[in-house]
Amino acid sequence: MTYQIIYSSDASIPMQSDELEDLLEQAREHNAQRGITGALVYVDGIFLQILEGEAATIKALMARISRDLRHEAVTVLQEGEVPSARFSDWKMAYIGATPEQLADWLCLPGTTPVVELFDGMRRDSSRVEGVAQSVLSVLSADRSDPASGPQGRA
Ligand SMILES: Cc1cc2nc3c(=O)[nH]c(=O)nc-3n(C[C@H](O)[C@H](O)[C@H](O)COP(=O)(O)O)c2cc1C
Repeated sequence: MTYQIIYSSDASIPMQSDELEDLLEQAREHNAQRGITGALVYVDGIFLQILEGEAATIKALMARISRDLRHEAVTVLQEGEVPSARFSDWKMAYIGATPEQLADWLCLPGTTPVVELFDGMRRDSSRVEGVAQSVLSVLSADRSDPASGPQGRA
């Protein structure tokens, strides 16, 4: 069985692309060593991360991530055993999403403020599954499109 945690958090200070690259480089190296896979979505200063791997490993990483001063208001939206790792092709994929894109994943109007989108997910975790599925679809489509840029989706 694979353990999965999906959480959201607010960047303490809006992240610049070089800071995000450093974070992803560090995360991917660490995750590769521990069989952790997943995806990180960044929308207007808010993170959504999906982590998958062996239960103890994922819980230990989550404890470290929660202490990280680069973000705050870390809120677990969904956690538990899943039949298999869905993001096994990515040590930590990255999507810089727009609020409109996130709204689309949640089947909400594109004009919905991003804070409301995340509040909705925090209140109703059943929405989170749909978002995870959409993230996976975007990544899979990207991978099969040779014209798509690298975007650091390792
Ligand atoms: C939004 C966010 C996502 C992160 N994702 C990961 C990750 O997937 N894997 C990882 O090893 N570290 C990740 N980190 C970094 C960890 O919080 C931590 O800095 C890193 O694991 C090193 O921990 P240490 O300083 O206790 O050794 C993330 C940090 C943030 C702010």
